[in-house]
Amino acid sequence: MKSEDVLMCSISKWYKQFKKNTFQTYFVKLCPDFIDYLNEDCVLIPDFEEVPSLPLFHQQMYLEIKEGLRKLCNVSFIKLNWSAPTDARWLLLNQNMQCTSVEDVYLLLKSSDRTAHDLSQPFKDCLSPISISDVEYVLALRKWEDICSSWEFRCFVRDRHLVGISQRDISASWPYLRQEEETIVSSIVSFFKEKIQNFFPLTNFVFDVVRYNKEKIKIVDFNPFGITTDGLLFTWEELSESENLDVMPQDISVVANYFCWTNGEDGSVVFRYLKDSARIQSTSHRLNCYPIDMVLNPKDFAKSANISTELKDSDDEDGEGERDHFKNSDVCS
Ligand SMILES: Nc1ncnc2c1ncn2[C@@H]1O[C@H](COP(=O)(O)OP(=O)(O)O)[C@@H](O)[C@H]1O
Ligand SMILES: [Mg+2]
Repeated sequence: MKSEDVLMCSISKWYKQFKKNTFQTYFVKLCPDFIDYLNEDCVLIPDFEEVPSLPLFHQQMYLEIKEGLRKLCNVSFIKLNWSAPTDARWLLLNQNMQCTSVEDVYLLLKSSDRTAHDLSQPFKDCLSPISISDVEYVLALRKWEDICSSWEFRCFVRDRHLVGISQRDISASWPYLRQEEETIVSSIVSFFKEKIQNFFPLTNFVFDVVRYNKEKIKIVDFNPFGITTDGLLFTWEELSESENLDVMPQDISVVANYFCWTNGEDGSVVFRYLKDSARIQSTSHRLNCYPIDMVLNPKDFAKSANISTELKDSDDEDGEGERDHFKNSDVCS
């Protein structure tokens, strides 16, 4: 993976070209003082009742975010160049990432490890990482859309050909995916050919879509083709090398079905989705809803918090079982 590829997947780079096929977005440039503030350890949110007494950069951010929110009817989904602070969503009252005030935006950005990663090491997995001083950091305020996770798909493009599609949320299975596998794939292939294939500048990349119905598909995001991006129901070895994505590794075939669609001279596209019988797993950010002490050492945590729980009394004397459970639920995206 090249640093240039990561740069091209920044929303500030691709938005203009794909504006018509994605959610309306306003950008606020992040000045160095604000980036320093985000990088500071403490979670101190300024008092926006007293805006004129705040440092100038907070005043400016306040006005620009407020204006962006106003243009989006005061409900917005936010992200930095690459990542959304989805790991911090539990801090908001409704826990669903809807930002309705400048305070919400600040709270999510200050509390998220995912956005901290954007600020500190976006090129971590690249062959020759470039300096972060070459990045123009932005806050993207996106129009809020009610999206059902069963409508979301991640699509893998290799050598400009769409080779794989996976359901985006792999914590649940939906019977409709089996019933509509062919129409799902054919509509995503048509959308890709019409709107993306000859327009996105990279030859290898990943894009996420939300498919409302046969006719209506929107781009959610572009991501680099490589381990920084979660391969979901594909492994990166398969995605990078395998010619036969319709042959599934043993552990994936236990939980997933596939549908292979042959697409004329463009080769074939393999769609993977969880079997109806697949064990439902915790969602990717479930881990973030618990204090870390509870995850690492549930027995001590229960003791210090004076909680009389099953954890204390369970047969699982050393808490290993709990730890494994949490480890398995920790999926990055
Ligand atoms: N505009 C939006 N309104 C509501 N939810 C959204 C919006 N954009 C994205 N989401 C939800 O947030 C998830 C993550 O969004 P995405 O932009 O891909 O962030 P990341 O790159 O950090 O994963 C999406 O899968 C979708 O469920
Ligand atoms: Mg993304």
